[in-house]
Amino acid sequence: MITGKTKIAGIFGDPVEHSLSPAMHNAAFSALGLDWAYVPFHVAVRPGGLKKAVEAVRSLGLTGVNVTIPHKEKVIKYLDEVEQEARLVGAVNTIVNENGRLIGCNTDGLGFLESLKKEARFKPKGKKIIVIGAGGAARGIVSAFLFCDGESTNSVIIANRTASRAKRLAAEFKKKFRRADILAVPLAGVGGYFKDADLLVNTTSAGMLGKADLKLPLRKLPGRAVVSDIVYNPLKTGLIKDAEKAGLKTHGGLGMLVGQGAISFELWTGRKAPVNIMRRAALKALKQK
Ligand code: ATR
Repeated sequence: MITGKTKIAGIFGDPVEHSLSPAMHNAAFSALGLDWAYVPFHVAVRPGGLKKAVEAVRSLGLTGVNVTIPHKEKVIKYLDEVEQEARLVGAVNTIVNENGRLIGCNTDGLGFLESLKKEARFKPKGKKIIVIGAGGAARGIVSAFLFCDGESTNSVIIANRTASRAKRLAAEFKKKFRRADILAVPLAGVGGYFKDADLLVNTTSAGMLGKADLKLPLRKLPGRAVVSDIVYNPLKTGLIKDAEKAGLKTHGGLGMLVGQGAISFELWTGRKAPVNIMRRAALKALKQK
């Protein structure tokens, strides 16, 4: 029951009705017996709209919010502080309200990495990874690999349909992570780099419901390679199905969704997230859509 004592968290997005986060977080609050509720807020794209929504986090005393498409980048200028990784990625997906001081974080990349380690038993240290895409999601994932303390991956290939975008991203990361070996290649020629790769990650929207699948020569990957896709609707994209057919280990998009949510939950509540409960709730909500 919601009372005057209930702490309110939520998500700002446009659209927001498709979000699985309310189901995931409310299930987690309830499992831990926390007097919290998570509400989807439709923050429409209109002049001044996002700024007012962020001010409302302070004035209404919301304890934290997630931020999703299309507000992740623009929200930065309205916050009091932005953590290092979110600054590097240039996007915030989680706001923590510390007594009126709003702190921006990005849990997407780390959430992806945590779920990859746990679900696919992947150990990033010294591994060669290939990232498909050079947009916001790719930035989060590449930076998480390069950041992860003490066990950084040092070989990353960024393959993008528009090769110039991959080059720009690689150049930017090279400046920040001088020891890392980062290469930008056109998506069309990425198969030439498959031979000794340990991980292939699709960070693009290709394969999403209603969109064409990525077609890649997965049989060129070594048998130890993991194929990961951040798309979770459908749960098994064409890429994941092709990887299964090629006998490779796979990691689906629900992992990143739950992983980022779990870290946000921990930032807000200070409690360990019930990850399996969150995953089940997200899966159930997805099936009901
Ligand atoms: P996001 O923030 O979700 O990553 P984005 O910044 O618009 O979104 O980036 C989308 C990424 O997916 C880009 O790398 C895009 O490639 P281009 O830079 O060439 O546009 C990639 N992408 C989208 N649809 C794709 C498709 N059908 N095949 C290959 N790459 C695709």
